[in-house]
Amino acid sequence: MLTRTASILCVFFVSVLSVRYDPTWDSIDSRPLPAWYDEAKLGIFIHWGVFSVPSFNSEWFWERWQADRTPEVVNFMNNNYRPDFTYADFASQFTAEFFDANQWADMFKASGAEYIVFVSKHHEGFTNWPSNHSFNWNSMAVGPKRDIVGELAASIKTNTSIHFGIYHSLYEWFNPLFIQDKKSNFTTQNFVKQKTMPELYELINTYKPDVIWSDGDSEAPSDYWQSKEFLAWVYNDSPVKDTVVTNDRWGKDAHCQHGGYLTCHDRYNPGKLQPRKWENAMTIDRHSWGFRRNAPLSDYLSTEQLLATFIETVSCGGNMLMNVGPTKEGTIHPIFEERLRDVGSWLNVNSEAIRSSRPWTTQNDTLTRRVWYTMNSSNVYALVLDWPTGSTLSLGAPMTHSGTTVQLVGYSGNLTWTARSGKGIDIHIPPIPTNKMPCKWAWAFKLSGLGNI
Ligand SMILES: *[C@@H]1O[C@H](CO)[C@@H](O)[C@H](O)[C@H]1NC(C)=O
Ligand SMILES: *[C@@H]1O[C@H](CO)[C@@H](O)[C@H](O)[C@H]1NC(C)=O
Ligand SMILES: *[C@@H]1O[C@H](CO)[C@@H](O)[C@H](O)[C@H]1NC(C)=O
Ligand SMILES: *[C@@H]1O[C@H](CO)[C@@H](O)[C@H](O)[C@H]1NC(C)=O
Ligand SMILES: *[C@@H]1O[C@H](CO)[C@@H](O)[C@H](O)[C@H]1NC(C)=O
Ligand SMILES: *[C@@H]1O[C@H](CO)[C@@H](O)[C@H](O)[C@H]1NC(C)=O
Repeated sequence: MLTRTASILCVFFVSVLSVRYDPTWDSIDSRPLPAWYDEAKLGIFIHWGVFSVPSFNSEWFWERWQADRTPEVVNFMNNNYRPDFTYADFASQFTAEFFDANQWADMFKASGAEYIVFVSKHHEGFTNWPSNHSFNWNSMAVGPKRDIVGELAASIKTNTSIHFGIYHSLYEWFNPLFIQDKKSNFTTQNFVKQKTMPELYELINTYKPDVIWSDGDSEAPSDYWQSKEFLAWVYNDSPVKDTVVTNDRWGKDAHCQHGGYLTCHDRYNPGKLQPRKWENAMTIDRHSWGFRRNAPLSDYLSTEQLLATFIETVSCGGNMLMNVGPTKEGTIHPIFEERLRDVGSWLNVNSEAIRSSRPWTTQNDTLTRRVWYTMNSSNVYALVLDWPTGSTLSLGAPMTHSGTTVQLVGYSGNLTWTARSGKGIDIHIPPIPTNKMPCKWAWAFKLSGLGNI
């Protein structure tokens, strides 16, 4: 006979198992986000495609050359290529001869990221896998002659604990089917039915990604894209239904409102606590997601800037998805690699303040600028972006009592402190020898036993 608890548990599990999602935003939005995603905090975004061959201006190269007629791009083509050179001609130079998925996996692991989002197809339409729906415009037919998505998925899944995710563009700038649908004001759906959806189902069934990062949606509504039907399948019946997370770029009515977590616009960083899980998708190169051969050092965000953005993001309840653009040969430039390894070395020291943390009641301090808070179990972490110039760090938000202890994460021993009158704390900063500093760039002060947790 079942005990009462067991039967309650049984009913609970049966009802959990039997949840089915309908193709409506109300139903899709009601799905709880799998917990791993909020706990992970950091992901690596990778933009790689035929645009990595010209490696100039940005991954929007083709559109800016042929549609926008951006002078910089038009002149680049006029000055360097024969007059009848087409964008498709770049594909054979997408050689990828140094692409080693295991090397990339090691680098992503060293960054401390817990998921990656790999561009399987950008707006140019070139698929980085041998899609049955992309005849001769895919990485097996031309260029690498390899299943790039497959190699990376296998290496990440076999050799790391990182979650494998894919980026996929719903629209394609120059696909004749899409252009036709657009001409009919999206009253026809030939592109969606013959291209977008078949290839999305193929991607999910073949590579089983834990993140589906949709993009290129904004010209048409989700009804046109059949997004809600697709997401209902992903959540109900796909091979990743229990682990997968998705974003919000599923149609112009969905942006920043519906789907899984919210990405809103690129580099979204609201600076205050959000009611719903969100992600700051940003790129180390300030101006581009694809690799640019002519980018000067000043175009790359510094490690200080990356960590400041990351800390602010996590403090406000977001994840950060940090982008690198590999070269057409398949290498990740040492500038990117150094940034990834620096962030990882910082996380190695400070992970208790970041991983699985949750927002505190206050996000940034009320007294000292550039101090952001997180919380892990009952400890509050004050993440300080500027090392205090004097011997005191004054914080306005914490409420102390006699049992409060303060530590600098990565440095042994307790720090002494005095209460400020009313609210707040003055932490006494000891003279720490340079070679005993736990880390560079940003520091975590752990506050235990606060009165206001
Ligand atoms: C493409 O079609 C072939 C033949 O039907 C099939 O064997 C293969 O698995 C398909 N590829 C993908 C990526 O689904
Ligand atoms: C996992 O790593 C090992 C050692 O580097 C390598 O030989 C193997 O091919 C990798 N597995 C996959 C699926 O990439
Ligand atoms: C699309 O909408 C525009 C503006 O409302 C209209 O002028 C045009 O006739 C429509 N085209 C079709 C094919 O419905
Ligand atoms: C939370 O902080 C404690 C140390 O106070 C640490 O042992 C634990 O691993 C942290 N949690 C996570 C998820 O890092
Ligand atoms: C807290 O952060 C927000 C967003 O960056 C900013 O507008 C505000 O001035 C900050 N407050 C303090 C006291 O620094
Ligand atoms: C720091 O303070 C806590 C709580 O009072 C105490 O348990 C611990 O022993 C102290 N650590 C050191 C190194 O003094």
